Amino acid sequence: MITPAAGSDSRGASDGHGRVPAGFAALVLALAALTVGMSAGEGAPPHEGNPFRGRQQFEEKRCSTCHSIWGHGGTLGPEISVAVAGKSFYELVGDFWNHTPQMIDQVNKLGYPWPTLDPTEMADILSYLYYLRLFDEPGNAVRGREAYARLQCASCHSLGTRNASVGRPLDGFGQYASSTALAQAMWNAGPRMQQAQVHTGTPIPQFSGHDMADIQALIRLEGHRPGRDVSVQPLPNPTRGAAVYRNKGCGTCHDGSGRVAPDLTQSTLSKTASEITGLLWNHSYAMGARMGAQGMPFPQFSDSEMADLIAHLYFLGYTGKKGDPKTGETVFGRRGCAACHKAGGGAPNLAAVATRTDRAGLASAMWNHAPQMHRTMAERAAFWPKFEPGEMRHLAAYLETFAVKPGAKPVRQPGATPPARPAK
Ligand code: HEC
Ligand code: HEC
Ligand code: HEC
Ligand code: HEC
Repeated sequence: MITPAAGSDSRGASDGHGRVPAGFAALVLALAALTVGMSAGEGAPPHEGNPFRGRQQFEEKRCSTCHSIWGHGGTLGPEISVAVAGKSFYELVGDFWNHTPQMIDQVNKLGYPWPTLDPTEMADILSYLYYLRLFDEPGNAVRGREAYARLQCASCHSLGTRNASVGRPLDGFGQYASSTALAQAMWNAGPRMQQAQVHTGTPIPQFSGHDMADIQALIRLEGHRPGRDVSVQPLPNPTRGAAVYRNKGCGTCHDGSGRVAPDLTQSTLSKTASEITGLLWNHSYAMGARMGAQGMPFPQFSDSEMADLIAHLYFLGYTGKKGDPKTGETVFGRRGCAACHKAGGGAPNLAAVATRTDRAGLASAMWNHAPQMHRTMAERAAFWPKFEPGEMRHLAAYLETFAVKPGAKPVRQPGATPPARPAK
């Protein structure tokens, strides 16, 4: 499928004020079109939540009446792709919570009912907001020119008016909006490219930061191609990526122990797709050597495999760091939760929430009960407690310690250690 690239090339990255580069519009359209056409059940991801279903939820729950994504949607609330996209699970939950009072007021003003989210819907929406950052790297052709020179691509490849004859011309990659096709071709050609580099004494290119996306932007700008259309690639799918990861045997060395190969959960934490792509490339030679030594063939990628694999690796960072229950206990007190949610405090025992549900369930319970809590708080003239970054995951870790295993002793109550005296 070919769609027009909204009349422009992606010459610059987001300007930091929420505006989105025009060439990016093609991707947005693709995202909109494809996800509507895609069956929601397509491969339940191993990661909690399904970003494709989450996209639909975002429309159905009318989040989009107030929030825009990449400039499409309402303006009453913040632009989501700037405000929160790419944050890890508990950071997102914390942000939801911090902003609920104003959201409730806005929803009331418009006369809407509060859009409740069951745990699955909550998981889907959160994973969608995380997923969005996969596309947050349109690249910058000016920086790309610098990277192209620094990494000496020009000494072997033709591009536009530059001529070279060792490798194939790179112009054709200009038809894509994202850099994954380029990265995939580079990976597949890795061993041949390395031979040429050793032969010509060129250093093996090491990518950093946005290099990959920036070179892609340069190729889009300068590459010879028949039209300015963008070939729409299938959306990267983390579920399919998990299968690629298994099928290519990545887990043989990356077993999570960090003994044979780095623990990829740590490597990919807080990294963008472009950074992960660069990381993969930078280590490809060392990995190729290791694979050779073990008699493993160097894996080749086709179709959307590389894009899917990157999406899978990107999602390894979604869970974020584990919280600390002791710190969580302090948060529970400091943020005032304990005042109402202890025995006799008049609010539900949160041990029940921890027992009943998983972590998306806690997020869903907080969201669904927020209007009632908002009212209770207003009556008591209390102000809405806001979380600092990181606090929500500690709080969740604390509440988790109250979850009752089947057949275990009755529920202790958070905020009441030592046990509170019964109310008189
Ligand atoms: C009636 C309008 C309205 C609707 C509907 C709405 N929001 Fe909001 N939202 C807002 C406003 C206004 C804010 C900013 C509140 C503030 O500044 O504290 C906000 C803030 C947020 C934030 C925090 C952004 C930040 O800067 O950290 C997130 C996340 C969010 N909304 C998600 C959602 C989701 C998901 C839905 C749908 C389930 C939704 N919103 C529905 C108006 C709305
Ligand atoms: C020392 C020469 C050399 C340098 C420097 C070099 N390459 Fe290559 N490259 C090759 C060779 C040789 C091949 C394998 C032959 C081929 O497929 O073009 C190749 C293959 C490729 C391919 C696969 C082409 C295809 O159509 O499948 C891509 C993409 C690529 N290189 C990109 C780059 C980029 C981007 C840079 C700079 C970061 C770079 N190369 C630097 C020599 C080089
Ligand atoms: C034969 C063992 C082996 C296999 C198979 C393997 N890797 Fe690696 N991987 C390594 C080693 C060893 C390193 C560290 C290399 C170095 O120091 O440059 C590494 C490094 C990496 C890194 C960089 C991590 C960091 O923190 O710097 C990434 C990302 C990565 N591998 C992803 C993959 C993926 C994806 C696959 C499957 C396509 C894969 N690896 C298959 C051994 C392997
Ligand atoms: C002013 C009192 C008050 C404070 C402070 C308060 N809550 Fe609540 N909370 C309530 C009330 C009342 C309900 C029950 C609302 C309902 O039934 O809809 C509730 C419900 C909840 C629920 C849903 C419980 C269930 O059984 O589904 C969660 C989760 C929750 N609160 C978490 C928190 C957290 C986390 C904090 C601290 C950041 C907090 N609350 C602070 C009064 C409070």
